[in-house]
Amino acid sequence: MNQIRSIKGTHDILPAQSKDWQDLENQIHKTANLYGYQEIRTPIIENATLFNRGVGQETDIVSKEMYSWDDKDKSTISLRPEMTASVVRSYIQHNLGSNSLLQRLYYIGPSFRRERPQKGRQRQFHQFGVEAIGSNNPEQDAEVISLGWSVLKSFGIDNLELKISSIGSHNCRDNFKTKLISYLDPFINQLSEVSQRRLKKNPLRILDTKNDQEKQILKSAPKIEEFYTNDDKNYFLKVQQYINDLGIPFKIDPLLVRGLDYYTQTTFEISSKDLGAQDALLGGGRYNGLIKALGGKDTPAVGFAAGMERVLIAAKKRKKPKNKTLCIYAICTHDESLGILQRSSEKLRNLGIKVVCETLRRSMRSQMREANKCNADFAIIIGEEEFFNKTIQIKNLSEGKQESIKYQDLITYFKSLTF
Ligand code: HAM
Repeated sequence: MNQIRSIKGTHDILPAQSKDWQDLENQIHKTANLYGYQEIRTPIIENATLFNRGVGQETDIVSKEMYSWDDKDKSTISLRPEMTASVVRSYIQHNLGSNSLLQRLYYIGPSFRRERPQKGRQRQFHQFGVEAIGSNNPEQDAEVISLGWSVLKSFGIDNLELKISSIGSHNCRDNFKTKLISYLDPFINQLSEVSQRRLKKNPLRILDTKNDQEKQILKSAPKIEEFYTNDDKNYFLKVQQYINDLGIPFKIDPLLVRGLDYYTQTTFEISSKDLGAQDALLGGGRYNGLIKALGGKDTPAVGFAAGMERVLIAAKKRKKPKNKTLCIYAICTHDESLGILQRSSEKLRNLGIKVVCETLRRSMRSQMREANKCNADFAIIIGEEEFFNKTIQIKNLSEGKQESIKYQDLITYFKSLTF
């Protein structure tokens, strides 16, 4: 029979990797809590309209990469390609703004985009992110950036680069778009097919081009900062000042283009030199119009999302924390003692000790090999002799010492080691 394999661009997270995922998830929960953010979990499927309206119909994410299908009731459903629109939908639906003027939310979970897979780019990938909904002040932008920076740093990633920009308020962006289109129009025949299409649908994305000829053309193109209002300018200066105060190094990158339509004013990305072509670890920005566009009250917001697979690639060289939980491998060479061993294991687990029990009834030698393989600190052993003497053997696997104790003293023995 044909073997069934995973779908292109999706990956199993195997047991050998899952500890790294757990470490990252723990670091996210810890850091987010330190900043006063609460976790939100939203469904993986949503009405397609949410992303059409939220992320933007002309973006690559929605127009080309979204997994959507017609459900039996004829509604169109999508696998979420990102989580900001879902969080905002949930915020509006549950009227979270009425609980508190400022909602500080964070999330962890899979997202789906039908992109061409390569290193650091999957069709199912995982994001963690935060959304701070309610504050229209630059210190909120700085806080969100600082939280993202802090998760990455505390997870042992060096070589980080923060780029920030401002795409101004809606008016500024619209004026800039018009001027950019008129500037690029005479060069249309020198633009790639993709950029020609973008010029009509999403001209700002051309700024992100990797094509040398287009980069050359863009050198004399109008710049977004020429269209900032005074408020835009002052806001952006304040964001820079607060990031500076936090001691986070950054570069201003006027060509920083985010692939989603909802941004206003601040945008940012953190990348790592340890990644290849897909070097963006984290991206985000302010999106003051989104909540209203999705049917809520006009509410300002700012957030980011990071790609967890990319974070784990960049963190390859990190020092891994040592496993501090005491671990025992429970060995049995006498079938009638199996019940006693399982009972003792349960009592030890109640003390917070990890106990792995043999269930394959292998030879003593194989069981001992298994104990070493799973990095146990101790082996406890019951055989026929121990069964009749009501004793248990304890082997310290790092020191190689072995001793026999009364079965009734087992818990006290290990209690004294853990407390
Ligand atoms: P985004 O830039 O589309 O932003 O994605 C954020 C991060 O997700 C990227 O920097 C990258 O690390 C990761 N990522 C994106 N696509 C893939 C992929 N196909 N495979 C692996 N990793 C990927 C957003 O999603 C916005 N919702 C961020 C945001 C939150 N803005 C405001 N709040």
